[in-house]
Amino acid sequence: MRKKIVVGNWKMNKTVAEGRELASAIIEQLGEDVIDCEVGIAPAYPVLGEVGKVIENGDVRLVAQNCHYEDDGAYTGEVSTRMLDSLGCSYIIVGHSERRQYFGETNRTVNLRLKKALAEGMQVIMCIGETLEEREGGITESIVTSQVREGLADIDDLSGVVLAYEPVWAIGTGKTATPEQADAVHASIRATIRDMYGEAAAKELRIQYGGSVKPSNAVELFSMPNIDGGLIGGASLKADDFVAIVRAAG
Ligand code: PGA
Repeated sequence: MRKKIVVGNWKMNKTVAEGRELASAIIEQLGEDVIDCEVGIAPAYPVLGEVGKVIENGDVRLVAQNCHYEDDGAYTGEVSTRMLDSLGCSYIIVGHSERRQYFGETNRTVNLRLKKALAEGMQVIMCIGETLEEREGGITESIVTSQVREGLADIDDLSGVVLAYEPVWAIGTGKTATPEQADAVHASIRATIRDMYGEAAAKELRIQYGGSVKPSNAVELFSMPNIDGGLIGGASLKADDFVAIVRAAG
């Protein structure tokens, strides 16, 4: 049985003080309840350290929104996996559609980042998903398949990898894929993984859904057979909503 995973992607929101406050509220609302779901929060780089201190004694994981693929050196504005490790991050998100869309990331650079994070002993959430144009053009499956194949190039062991299917047209737009639409793509991703890594790996791999997940649609989405939790943007900026979504998974 795959353990669900829900991660709040704060994107470029929250200062250090605001991040501390949000993380404290999340911890408080989760309380002592046993929740059968892995939970993570992904603040922006400058906020990671302080949020890490707020959550250090609990089960909530510290997640970074990206990383660079070199050890260190002259890469102004970039952050290495070793730096993220030293802040207590256990997961790194790679390939978010906003990185692909606004910052020129490609399947190849996503693959480099993913390999670096895994080599550093960290776990990775690799995001994939089609644009509206691609969906309307009927090429969702082929786009997502090539993102999976190229993003995972040279990776033999998937145990440190989570995938997040995030249709670009559903991110921050209020338009969610229907549970059936999402599950159909998740099933095709799982079939690709089966083809690449075999049945056992395909059964174990967790595939999150992301794109306008809210407390009101989370239960339905997370009850689909191939959806193993969510990557949450807007709704993760409010403790009540985020915790309600976590409870929907756990
Ligand atoms: P959203 O973002 O929940 O605001 O749609 C999801 C994401 O980009 O991870």
